[in-house]
Order: sequence, then C-alpha cells, then structure tokens
Amino acid sequence: MMSSSSSLACARAVCPVASRRNAVLTQAQAQAHAQAADIYEPAAVRRLFDRMSRSYELVNIVLSLGFSVRWRRELAQLVPMQAEGASILDAMCGMGETWRALQRRFPAARFAALDFAPHMAERARARNAVRHQGRFVVHERDMLDNGLPDAGFDVVLSAYGVKTFDAAQSGLFAQELARILRPGGRFAFIEVTQPANPLLRALYGLYIGAVVPALARVIVADAEEYRMLGRYVRDYGDGRRTQDALAAHPQLVVETRRHFFGCATSFSGYRLPGAWPGHVGPGPASPARPCSGRMAT
Ligand SMILES: C[S@@+](CC[C@H](N)C(=O)[O-])C[C@H]1O[C@@H](n2cnc3c(N)ncnc32)[C@H](O)[C@@H]1O
Repeated sequence: MMSSSSSLACARAVCPVASRRNAVLTQAQAQAHAQAADIYEPAAVRRLFDRMSRSYELVNIVLSLGFSVRWRRELAQLVPMQAEGASILDAMCGMGETWRALQRRFPAARFAALDFAPHMAERARARNAVRHQGRFVVHERDMLDNGLPDAGFDVVLSAYGVKTFDAAQSGLFAQELARILRPGGRFAFIEVTQPANPLLRALYGLYIGAVVPALARVIVADAEEYRMLGRYVRDYGDGRRTQDALAAHPQLVVETRRHFFGCATSFSGYRLPGAWPGHVGPGPASPARPCSGRMAT
C-alpha cells in the first residue's frame, strides 16, 4: 500500500497517472467555472430557449404535474382587477403560456408581450393569431434594454421569466420595471424556487435535476435543455436576488409569497405613485416609502 507521503509525492506530478488526473480535474473545473459565468449571458439564454421552443409547452405541463398552469393562474390573481383599457405587459412571455390566465383575469385590458428568443416570439405570434384573436402585441426584445415607453403600462407580469437574470441583471430589471410602469402601477412575477424544508428541497432537487431531464428525453428525445433549467433553478435558490433587487429600488414596493411550500415564489407589488428625486418628467416628487420589501414564508 502506498504511504501518505508517497501518495503526496505522486500528486506532485512525479506520478504520470496522478498528474494526468489532476490536469483533467483542472480542465473540468475551469470548464465548470466558465459555464457558471456563461449561463447568464443573454446570448446563451436566448439560444437555450430557442432550442426549447420545440418542446417547452408540452414538457412544462407534463413535468410540472400541472403546477405550472396553477401557478400562472395564481400569478394573475396577485394583481387587482383592472379598469377597461388598462395596458398589461407579459414580460419574458415565452410562447404566450400565461395569456389564457391573463385574459380571464383582465377581460377588458389591452395586452403587450415581450420575449427576446426569436423562435419563442414567433410561436407566441402564431398562438396570438390562432387562440387570442390577435389581442397581444408581441415584441421581440430584450427586457433589460426594451425601448418601451416610460410609464407605458398599468401592469407588468411574468411567469418563470426572472430566474435567468443574475444579481446585476436583476437590478437592471428592477430599473426597467420602475421606468415602464406608470406611477401606482402593479407588478407580479412567479418563479420556481427551492423549498426551505431540507427533505422537500432534496426531493424537489432530485425531481428537477434528474427526473425531469430523464422524462424529457423520453417525451421529446431531448434532455440537455431541461438539465440546464434545473441548473438555473438550483442557482436561483429561494429567489432572494429578485426580492433584493426589487426591494432595493426606491420606487418599488414588493411583497414575497411562497406557493406550495416554497416550490414556487411570487414577488408582487406596485410602483409608488410619484416621480423619484432627480426624475425628469410629469408627477410630483416621491412620497415617503410606505413599507419595505419582505420575505414572507
Ligand atoms: C421559462 S420561459 C417562460 C415562458 C412563459 N412566461 C411561461 O409562462 O412559461 C422564460 C422566457 O424568458 C425569455 N427571456 C429570458 N431573458 C429574457 C430577456 N432578457 N428579455 C426577454 N426575454 C427573456 C426566454 O426567451 C424564455 O422564453
């Protein structure tokens, strides 16, 4: 048996097998680091969802055991009923999976939708024509650089659209949200998150990280994209970075709610009814902030 000192000596590149293994490990680690940094690159996210557009809707419903549909409905319920003609934006709309819930909740609203993945936006347009009588204006744009008008929306919502923003992008997202919402306008977002309970978290992690990709391979012969989605969910944790970014914005008031033991989390609230100091445009100076964001459980 090799002594610990000889094993150490071997690890110091005297032993060709160990040095090759170390080199491989280093390469794998470097690749993992590079990938960790890359997964939030807009081009990588866009490519991922373009590839997923072939199968996303079916896989999403089947593999979430119907929860994805239920959570979209709960998302729409987080925003009060809106007056006729209110303008509503479905941000990171995918192929328009949330539109049925939105139309039911806000039957007299005007709708816009936005997604930056060309194949997703294309399928959203097709769905708009076939199932929604063309009521949605679909923009193929980046939410973080969207060019939409200041204070143009009464409501901004998104289902499962914020987990692919890292902390810095979440800050930009909060800025854009506050800019395009009218003063007093409402927002709501829902995301898949990791539950706090360790046992449930382990089971849910296993389901999302291993079972979903395996089933996706059976259903659509494609598992890699769904493995990546699991990666985003693991990285996103309990959604604190979205909560923090929204709560840090001086014009936004946010409340966080857990859905089904924390397997999903929503962030909803409103833009304060007034302009913030230094803001050039209509409206009075910002009133005092009534309450800060909190992480409800
Ligand atoms: C998980 S899908 C959610 C789709 C849909 N909202 C739903 O309910 O299933 C996330 C979508 O967000 C889009 N997305 C991600 N980052 C974006 C960004 N910066 N700007 C616009 N769309 C973005 C992706 O292209 C993808 O279609």
